Amino acid sequence: MSQSPRKILVAVAWPYASGLRHIGHVAGFGVPSDTFARYHRLRGNDVLMVSGTDEHGTPVMVAADAAGESPRDTAEKFNELIREDLRDLGLSYDLFTRTTTENHYRVTRDLFRTLYDKGFVIERETLGAFSAATGHTLPDRYVEGTCPICGYESARGDQCDNCGNQLDPVDLIDPRSRIDGTPPVFKTTKHLFLDLPAFKERLTEWIESQNHWRPNVRKFSLNFVKELKPRPITRDLDWGVPIPVPGYEELDGKRIYVWFDAVIGYLSAAIEWATNRGTPDAWRDWWQNPEAEHTYFMGKDNIVFHTVIWPSMLLGYGAGGEFGDGRGPLEMPDNVASSEYLTMEGKKFSSSRGVQILVRDFLSRYDPDPLRYFLSIAGPETQDTDFTWSEFVRRNNDELVANWGNLVNRVLQSAYKNFRVVPEPGALGDSDAALIAEVERGFDTIGSLIESARFKAGLQEAMRLASLVNQYIAEHAPWSALETERDRAGTILYVALHAIDNLKILLAPYLPFSSQRLHELLGYDGVLAGAIESRVIQEDEGREHTVLAGEYEAWVGSWTPSAIAPGQALREPAPLFAKLDPEKVVDEELRRMEDAAEGTAADGEDA
Ligand code: MF3
Ligand code: ZN
Repeated sequence: MSQSPRKILVAVAWPYASGLRHIGHVAGFGVPSDTFARYHRLRGNDVLMVSGTDEHGTPVMVAADAAGESPRDTAEKFNELIREDLRDLGLSYDLFTRTTTENHYRVTRDLFRTLYDKGFVIERETLGAFSAATGHTLPDRYVEGTCPICGYESARGDQCDNCGNQLDPVDLIDPRSRIDGTPPVFKTTKHLFLDLPAFKERLTEWIESQNHWRPNVRKFSLNFVKELKPRPITRDLDWGVPIPVPGYEELDGKRIYVWFDAVIGYLSAAIEWATNRGTPDAWRDWWQNPEAEHTYFMGKDNIVFHTVIWPSMLLGYGAGGEFGDGRGPLEMPDNVASSEYLTMEGKKFSSSRGVQILVRDFLSRYDPDPLRYFLSIAGPETQDTDFTWSEFVRRNNDELVANWGNLVNRVLQSAYKNFRVVPEPGALGDSDAALIAEVERGFDTIGSLIESARFKAGLQEAMRLASLVNQYIAEHAPWSALETERDRAGTILYVALHAIDNLKILLAPYLPFSSQRLHELLGYDGVLAGAIESRVIQEDEGREHTVLAGEYEAWVGSWTPSAIAPGQALREPAPLFAKLDPEKVVDEELRRMEDAAEGTAADGEDA
């Protein structure tokens, strides 16, 4: 392949540093984005995969209040825990940073200021709800009361879940804070708004032309741009990026709205990545290069921020600003791959009782690849799906273990026991060549499915190829041929090893840990897909922060058919996956969830 590498930005939604993340979160933004990034790296493309923890605004403040600590401490704590979880799941960020860095503040202020100077930020007076107890602003969804339209008693300040109408907190009858139940105080206050209507035509035209987006994302966004209103981008809070506008900068109680700074993270993290590696302009190859390809990954509640708000900010910023430096407009999103929701055990736990399965707990009892497998093959790619323990065990045992793990194990055991090396094949017959050709076609089919963010279909295809190899083995039974025709048995095992070696690559974006182990068992050295490390980054003002990063250029794998060398020494085989005991797992896990549900109820009573 003489094609020059493509510049691929993999922009992954920033988890709030307000709590531990559950498997529904990583189903939405984590596993799909990593599969995509790993595939592109194997293809030889230049991938920049960035994200970090989203640390400002109400979500972190509410968590900090509940814990009786400062927002900074809460953010610090969850930044570390979330970072560990993402690393343990094998998410290969080029940079996973955070929004409280000096760099992020500088970039955020540059964008805000530039949009302001260009007239896209306007001042308006609003009637805001404040907590009587703390004086903090109460975001719309933290105000609860009776719906003025249908009379439902638990309507929220932004909408009534009963009749579906959009509301304002002032509309609610008998309003109260969801945090402490006290009635909010309403005050007029000035805020700065992003003038979204100024971008309406450009946005509409742009979204209309995105025919490759998932239909729900495109439809939802087109609908949203029909009725654009200016949107507030400041809040009455003291936790966030200060507002770089005279009359606001000085105020302790006003900050930039968390969503405004969070989406800028995609850009600021690219800039930080470039600075950290000593090539401060390198980010421009992704951000000011019309050829670069930008794909965003998130859950569906994030769509509007990625298809309307962030694109408006990018359009408004143009060629910048300090950072843009007049060197060309910033790239717009090319694909916005949003996932639907993952519920847990039939909504019985997740919605009504708030019990979630935490990534950290999951990984303390099971390997990462079975979770990645489940989320890729049965996750909420295009519709809401439900995680159940019994289905997790079934997929693990009947698919991952029975189809792929056992195949690898049987072939490796037999080859290792009888030959110790990859056997020298005799002339290949039609069925041998046909199997090899079919598996090799996977590089095209699975590759294009992953490129178009159809991860589930890509994995199904890889599993179909694995079952073809199983059929081939069953038909040719190399173990019985070993007694009578050792050469023919060697050829069959060679063909099977060749197929497995290729499947190892085809599965590597999905199952990086087991593919690496198989790579070693097959007698190769080096990393198919490199390790994810924590690094400490020094900031200008003497502060430091820890990030996830990695040297993924060192990967030896490549997305092309591989021909394993006859004579290559095999290593002593060991199973890639563990079979799970269905009754034990289901019983134990459901009991844990019951206990957690009771724990939550007890917490609720204390509060
Ligand atoms: N923190 C947000 C959430 O969890 C996602 C932010 S995505 C961003 O819903 F990158 F735009 F910030
Ligand atoms: Zn209502």
